[in-house]
Amino acid sequence: MVKICCIGAGYVGGPTMAVIALKCPKIAVTVVDISAPRINGWNSDHLPIYEPGLEAVVKECRGRNLFFSTEVEKHVAEADIVFVSVNTPTKTHGLGAGKAADLTYWESSARMIADVSKSDKIVVEKSTVPVRTAEAIERILTHNRKKINFTILSNPEFLAEGTAIKDLFSPDRVLIGGRETPEGQKAIETLKDIYANWVPKEKIICTNLWSGELSKLAANAFLAQRISSVNAMSALCEATGADISEVSHSIGTDSRIGPKFLNASVGFGGSCFQKDIMNLVYICECNGLHVVANYWKQVIKVNDYQKSRFVNRVVASMFNTVAAKKIAVLGFSFKKDTGDTREAPAIDVCKGLLGDKARLSIYDPQVTEDQIIKDLSMKKFDKEQPAHLQPPSPTSIKQVAVVWDAYTAVKDAHGVCIMTEWDEFKKLDYQKIYDNMQKPAFLFDGRNVMDVGKLRKIGFIVYSIGKPLDPWLKDMPAVA
Ligand code: NAD
Ligand code: UDX
Repeated sequence: MVKICCIGAGYVGGPTMAVIALKCPKIAVTVVDISAPRINGWNSDHLPIYEPGLEAVVKECRGRNLFFSTEVEKHVAEADIVFVSVNTPTKTHGLGAGKAADLTYWESSARMIADVSKSDKIVVEKSTVPVRTAEAIERILTHNRKKINFTILSNPEFLAEGTAIKDLFSPDRVLIGGRETPEGQKAIETLKDIYANWVPKEKIICTNLWSGELSKLAANAFLAQRISSVNAMSALCEATGADISEVSHSIGTDSRIGPKFLNASVGFGGSCFQKDIMNLVYICECNGLHVVANYWKQVIKVNDYQKSRFVNRVVASMFNTVAAKKIAVLGFSFKKDTGDTREAPAIDVCKGLLGDKARLSIYDPQVTEDQIIKDLSMKKFDKEQPAHLQPPSPTSIKQVAVVWDAYTAVKDAHGVCIMTEWDEFKKLDYQKIYDNMQKPAFLFDGRNVMDVGKLRKIGFIVYSIGKPLDPWLKDMPAVA
């Protein structure tokens, strides 16, 4: 039986390995992690991450050919193929701080693989890494060579959170990069055969190692750039009376542009886009490509602009101050169908509102109170971060209440901000909400999920990103 070990039982390692185990019953898959609580979670009825469809997959394979363990070294030593799916966050200190990928976890995994291995292995980069990381990893793996052959492959993951199982079951493509040597090509074929158990062969793309690594960064940069482009247009729509939904639809029907990923929003979040673009920027700078680096930096700048523009709209509409006013925040995760809050736009928006001394009442169906308070208290590492986005003082954190029901969040509120497009927010009784709010009642839709006309009929003053402005908002100071 082929043995796979995956280092890192996170949002990528857990679901990807569960699907491999499901689709390949003849392969034994063990996911290992240094975090005992995470592994305990994977072995329990309460999986450590929320992802539609994941529980059913795990339940079918766990104990059969899918295992979760903290015995990292033992399972790595026994494996034929080792996937490395550890976190690769942005460096927060030293050389490249704020931009470069922090490869500490990757490097320590590689050193451990080198130390404990007693047989040849294919080592697969599942984490998103800077281009040419494989070269450095190869050096580490071979530094104390014990006549063991390690072959490195790049096999970046393209799943999106909230749709991970669907994405893994029928991916647009699987990408495998390897050395153009006989060993490299043989390793590519081995991994290709695993995916071919459920992915059509024509969807498995094979490249050299560096193209594999760079394609992942490029894909995320292009996706994020699309959102920043549509968000930049949304600002122009508000200034001119055009409607961003109509503009998106109109341009999306051009088959060269395509209809997906054109929803204007309060900004993109998630653990990948910002981190991977900054990583790309750093690599460009290191290669002396400053014009290219600046081009990609703008994607992040527009994203930050979109978040502060939203905060300014809220404050400006409400008579230029939200001090002591209750603002209900509906949704905190970075998108619907996940409890993940990494880089969620709600964090910056809440910090901005707290900076103006608002009282916040926050509800998200999947995010815990502990997580929300942690996110709002944490210092964000960014040298260029405006002062109002720095962590709020302990006094203003006391202005935050986390509640477990949308109606409780909005009761007596002066304004409601929709920060995540959870389906349940579309189904709420907005007449009831309006009746229980302070007047005038404001609603700020950061995801364009609400029927603006209906809400205005009820009596709300509504701001929806990139939509023609409410007459009330037109009279307010311009928000640039
Ligand atoms: P994560 O933080 O959820 O999980 C990483 C796990 O690795 C953690 O549980 C951590 O404890 C573990 N770990 C770290 N060092 C370890 C070590 N030495 N030994 C054993 N375990 C160790 O991260 P994630 O979201 O799963 O992302 C993993 C990688 O995949 C990142 O490079 C990310 O950029 C990339 N990626 C993420 C997504 C996504 O949607 N989250 C999608 C595609 C690619
Ligand atoms: C992303 C990539 O899509 C995925 O391929 C990669 O593997 C990991 O990073 P993820 O961050 O999980 O996935 O979610 P995604 O659906 O890409 O959304 C990212 C952010 O963009 C979210 O905050 C989402 O709300 C926002 N978004 C997305 C928009 O604002 N508008 C859109 O049209 C699409």
